[in-house]
Amino acid sequence: MSKLSVNHLLGIKNLQKEDIELIFKTADHFKEVINRPIKKVPSLRDITIANLFFENSTRTKLSFEIAEKRLSADVLNFSSSNSSVKKGETLIDTVNNILSMKVDMVVMRHPNPGAANFLSKHVKAKIVNAGDGAHEHPTQALLDAFSIREKYGDIKGKNIVIVGDILHSRVALSNIFCLQKLGANVKVCGPLTLMPKHITSLGVEVITNLKEALNWCDVAIMLRIQLERQDIKLFPSLREYTMLYGIDKELLDSLDKKITIMHPGPINRGVEITSDVADSNQSIILNQVENGVAIRMAVLYLLAGQIE
Ligand code: CP
Repeated sequence: MSKLSVNHLLGIKNLQKEDIELIFKTADHFKEVINRPIKKVPSLRDITIANLFFENSTRTKLSFEIAEKRLSADVLNFSSSNSSVKKGETLIDTVNNILSMKVDMVVMRHPNPGAANFLSKHVKAKIVNAGDGAHEHPTQALLDAFSIREKYGDIKGKNIVIVGDILHSRVALSNIFCLQKLGANVKVCGPLTLMPKHITSLGVEVITNLKEALNWCDVAIMLRIQLERQDIKLFPSLREYTMLYGIDKELLDSLDKKITIMHPGPINRGVEITSDVADSNQSIILNQVENGVAIRMAVLYLLAGQIE
């Protein structure tokens, strides 16, 4: 396979295993490129990319921007907080105005699930979903799986547990789709009030005991509690959550084997993970961030190759 089976990257659900493998193979090449003394390649010269962020971001926004610049694309950055969206402009009007400036690709983060999909049906540009509400965050899942592959050589047969606020997490959903397509065994762990009702229909088992989950897994992906998406209280207090679902060094050291710790960020130190775990040699959190640039370069490069 030398071409993606999709025209936009809207989610992992509609990717084939071969698409993911092609993205990884391309990212392997770009990872080598970004570790050279001269990190820039001309692959996307004359391609203009708009980064439209209607929701806060640090890692994803900067990672896409650096990926685009490493590929020599022209980059436009837009954030809704200081735009005319505040004056009542619709999403399609905002994007069509930006596209009139001859933009080829749009990277969009939006609080509404399905926003990237909607946009892909209404505008003429390649769309990359940089996170849509609690729905999907495909490049995060790709960089997570790429980091596990880098650590273990293969993902097939690995036991991976995703811990925390599964209900509000686009990272969890994209990771479940991605890791299962690559042959991993995936379970989720957390309080039942933070589990989507139909989670088991995705083929993942729910474990409510953290120590049991950690003893089962090779890799634990710890998630932040997304208080900004919770309209009602789903657990008594953050302190109680930390006691039952937070990982600290004592718990990590008490496990039957040495597991790998991951986190998509932003981390709430002392809530779902303590500093001594986040900064330990079992953590690959910063490798994830580094790999994010190579993965995003690969996605942009492959989609740009399909621009007519
Ligand atoms: N992992 C992630 O999406 O982080 P940001 O919200 O900072 O982009």
